[in-house]
Amino acid sequence: MTIKEIFDTMSYGPAPESPSEAQAWLARHAQGFGHFIDGAFTAPEALFESRNPASGAVLAQVSQGSPASVDAAVAAATRAQPKWARLAPHKRAQYLYALARLVQKHARLLAVLETMDNGKPIRESRDIDLPLVARHFSYHAGLAQLAPTELPDLEPLGVCGAIIPWNFPLLMLAWKVAPALAAGNTVVLKPAEYTPLTALLFAEISLEAGLPKGVLNIVTGDGDTGAALVDHPGVAKIAFTGSTAVGKTIRRATAGSGKALTLELGGKSPYIVFDDADLDSAVEGLVDAIWFNGGQVCCAGSRLLVQEGVADRFHAKLKRRMDGLRIGDPLDKCIDVGAVVDPVQLATITRMVDASEGEKYTADTPLPQGCFYPPTLITGLSAASPLMQEEIFGPVLVSMTFRTPTEAVDLANNTRYGLAATVWTENVNLALDIAPKLRAGVVWINGTNMFDAAAGFGGVRESGFGREGGWEGLHAYLRPKGKAAALKPVTAIPAPKSALVEGLDRTAKLFIGGKQARPDGGYSKAVYSPRGALLGHIGLGNRKDIRNAVEAAHAAKGWGRASAHNRAQILFYIAENLSARADEFAARIKAQTGTSGASEVEAAIARLFTYAAWADKFDGAVKSVPIRGVALAMNEACGVIAALCPDEAPLLGLVSVMAPAIAMGNTCVLVPSQAFPLSATDFYQVLETSDLPSGVVNIVTGAHDELAKPLAGHMDVDAVWSFSSADVSQIIEAESASNLKRTWVNHGRARDWQAPAAEGRAFLRHATEVKTVWVPYGE
Ligand code: NAI
Repeated sequence: MTIKEIFDTMSYGPAPESPSEAQAWLARHAQGFGHFIDGAFTAPEALFESRNPASGAVLAQVSQGSPASVDAAVAAATRAQPKWARLAPHKRAQYLYALARLVQKHARLLAVLETMDNGKPIRESRDIDLPLVARHFSYHAGLAQLAPTELPDLEPLGVCGAIIPWNFPLLMLAWKVAPALAAGNTVVLKPAEYTPLTALLFAEISLEAGLPKGVLNIVTGDGDTGAALVDHPGVAKIAFTGSTAVGKTIRRATAGSGKALTLELGGKSPYIVFDDADLDSAVEGLVDAIWFNGGQVCCAGSRLLVQEGVADRFHAKLKRRMDGLRIGDPLDKCIDVGAVVDPVQLATITRMVDASEGEKYTADTPLPQGCFYPPTLITGLSAASPLMQEEIFGPVLVSMTFRTPTEAVDLANNTRYGLAATVWTENVNLALDIAPKLRAGVVWINGTNMFDAAAGFGGVRESGFGREGGWEGLHAYLRPKGKAAALKPVTAIPAPKSALVEGLDRTAKLFIGGKQARPDGGYSKAVYSPRGALLGHIGLGNRKDIRNAVEAAHAAKGWGRASAHNRAQILFYIAENLSARADEFAARIKAQTGTSGASEVEAAIARLFTYAAWADKFDGAVKSVPIRGVALAMNEACGVIAALCPDEAPLLGLVSVMAPAIAMGNTCVLVPSQAFPLSATDFYQVLETSDLPSGVVNIVTGAHDELAKPLAGHMDVDAVWSFSSADVSQIIEAESASNLKRTWVNHGRARDWQAPAAEGRAFLRHATEVKTVWVPYGE
């Protein structure tokens, strides 16, 4: 090629990164890797191969972890945990900081090894993954120092099990290990079977950092090893990143066990381009959105939505850019798209694309032999086409057009996932109007794939629950201090031999969509006082009543758009109206329970005041992220919250769950105290006179264990809380796997509803989702 031709084409030659250091490290472990347990490597067991997907070469032999190995790792972590938690905060911070520094020192070796094991371009592992890993450990060194003083009422969970995928092996390790250790937990980590090597190198690095033995343990293996970790009774929490299918399995497996759980799952994230966008920048952003890591990214912008007027121009620019992408040896620094992680994944991508309708455009660029898939664009699909809905996890983009911002939002939200979304427009007002309407945990404006340890990352709906990063991420590794006592069962007063019947019969109805409704089943139940008087009847709600109540709550979701000031006013009004009838409510509690209700009513009024106060004060945050821009952490309503209210505090319990939910803009379906339900049915009369829009609060009386199942399984319920029995907690966690809704249950532990801990930030956090909106600035 002549110099003139080079100037014309601007082509450049290969710039290979040397694998020699990584190969030398692998050669030192040629006998195969054992697990890293209690500060040392075990003898290898049941070896399997880890391969370089770009060349097919075997890199190393690693052990398939048995239940016994998992057990040994959990035992080591259990032994190490109390001492680790007792360390002075700055000592834990020092270890985390040392890990950050050592990651930086070994950055090139880690990056090369990552690329060899996973197939991602060295440019990405070197310039994106590794800096983020180091940043994650140093940020969490800071949280280790601050957590005990900033969050004095919380304590570590114990042993955390971390199960991670193959797409960002070391970064996902950092996302799990750093917050867990910062909070004072110890860890057993299971890397993905395709990509265990950087975790094993990290284990060696932790020895260099002098990390006390047992604080970090690594057991390699496949899904069976992961399942053994999930099932282990010594594990207090599972933090999982991976497929939605396995996420659901883990949700069911841990149901009722009391284990904490965070799930970061799949996505089909929309990438919205408005007609006033800077189209060239939007094309560059899209390259990053869908061809970063070959599209094997949970938050990949894999669903392009482009405004009709610019669609042809945008597609033409995109195709030209696709043709310029370089695919090949991931260790070549000039490569844009590397290898697919494994032939199994390649076969999945090929099968899904081959089976799809639509027009397929394949990048006109050389494709090497082996585990590679060409950048592909599919147009002409309908919103319901399988590839518009299903995660492909490969370098394949699907595209649709829209006409109006409203249609863009509807299409964007037409998915069972809710991880990330990208918006391109030069109109900042439009962007900030659209961002809150998108059902996603993260929104990027005029940019994509912006990540930082200070900013929460995570999804809603079937993309999972929980956030990683920031203070919100740290909360997922902590719990309230001390162990609550077991909840004493509270049962309804049984029917006396001969009931005392005074006055007219009163049958309380259900309260659905702002109206009193008869129970669908036509059954009711008598409520007696301890001295045998018939107090009235309540309707026994069933599955159909739950459906109606959820429908009403769903239809009332506009409540979330009411101003916080307005929500506060209504809560004050409810408090005022309850206050006017305080004596009557106190007498009703006394009649049902036999004990004075005055203090409970007073506490309920105070609680309403608390959340009226919080309604416009549970602020979000602006995160200090290291870019020219801001990351806004916005507290948004979860949607429809269903709650099984405590039996023991018939009025205060109901108010304590209702008030934070509606203060934050949620609508709710409440199942009141099963033993003493009449305070709730009286309370809806207060709601009726307090200007609360219909459907914001719905009340269905009945048996908790019967109503828990339809509530937790309902696809239009976004979160379920339970302060009922342990059995109900189990039902809720198991059934919630249907759409992976958030749950908050008591596992049969008691709570003092009069205590200060029964209100405030913990409740507000459960009533909100943190959405991180990234807004870069500058021309
Ligand atoms: P996967 O969900 O099966 O694997 C993720 C991790 O979970 C691995 O460490 C695996 O060993 C472990 N695991 C598997 N079954 C388990 C079980 N029953 N109990 C506990 N742990 C278990 O993901 P896989 O098979 O590697 O990829 C399949 C699809 O999942 C991909 O095509 C993609 O669509 C999606 N995926 C999503 C990721 C994300 O970041 N959201 C990451 C990886 C895959």
